Amino acid sequence: MILLQSTAWLPEAASSVAPEVDSLFQFWALVSTVIFIGVVGAMTFFVVRYRRRRRDEVPEPVKEKKVVELAWIVVPTILVLIVFTWGFRVFIKMYTAPPDAYEIVVYGYQWYWEFEYPNGVKTTNELHVPAGQPVKLRMTSVDVIHSFYVPAFRVKQDVLPDRYSSLWFEATKPGEYTVFCAEYCGTQHSGMLAKVIVHPREEFEQWLESAGIPEDMPLAELGARLYREKACFSCHSIDGSRLVGPTFKGLFGSTRTFEDGSTAVADENYLREAILQPGARVVQGYPNVMPASYASLSEREVAALIEFIKQQQ
Ligand code: CUA
Repeated sequence: MILLQSTAWLPEAASSVAPEVDSLFQFWALVSTVIFIGVVGAMTFFVVRYRRRRRDEVPEPVKEKKVVELAWIVVPTILVLIVFTWGFRVFIKMYTAPPDAYEIVVYGYQWYWEFEYPNGVKTTNELHVPAGQPVKLRMTSVDVIHSFYVPAFRVKQDVLPDRYSSLWFEATKPGEYTVFCAEYCGTQHSGMLAKVIVHPREEFEQWLESAGIPEDMPLAELGARLYREKACFSCHSIDGSRLVGPTFKGLFGSTRTFEDGSTAVADENYLREAILQPGARVVQGYPNVMPASYASLSEREVAALIEFIKQQQ
């Protein structure tokens, strides 16, 4: 029973579990509305009908009615049990991934999401999945608590450091859906957005095969890709605006002033150090928050990023 689908109050329903969640929600909203109108209506009626008319009026003693008392105990109990049973069933379904689910690993970072597929492909802020197939996300955080939330799929799960949590869904319609971080995780929490891109099944296989980085990609192009995929953009703009870290615009060749007052010209070796050992010299006026994880970039990737930064003049 679906009364209203993707209305003003509910986002599009794009997973197998979404219509079930919506039905339960609609049922409960309907019951609540009926009860609300009944209670407020009766109250209004009594206020008018039995209002005090004279100063010395004494109300008649009220006799209890067993039937009425029983009714307001039994009816709500039944309603609550219906919702409990119904809700529990949907809950079990939502939290029990089918054994044949396609598994993708999710890493939460301040402030972006990284996805790793079984064939080693990694993407940032773009989760690609096939339609009509159960997908299980095994999720962990590299820093603080985040929460993976896809309103269109009606699923949400906290993502914690030092352990795995998981989530599953079966997307029903190809398209793009927004992922929100639903747990306050610092300055850029509200900007921690990603997309789920649902492909038709065959197209997903194609995407997966083409998603690796070709060996012969030119450095600047690879740099632009890494800027996106390694989420440099979440802290470094390329349009000159100030984010958590300095902008890349006009960075190459400029003179940097550090916390201890010393200065240096941003050449290739400076950029290399700034990427691989971000804590070594921290630019004045900026917090020392860049993760050390970029030390795992390959020599070619570092060269590509430097090439990309050089171009941002
Ligand atoms: Cu991550 Cu909020």
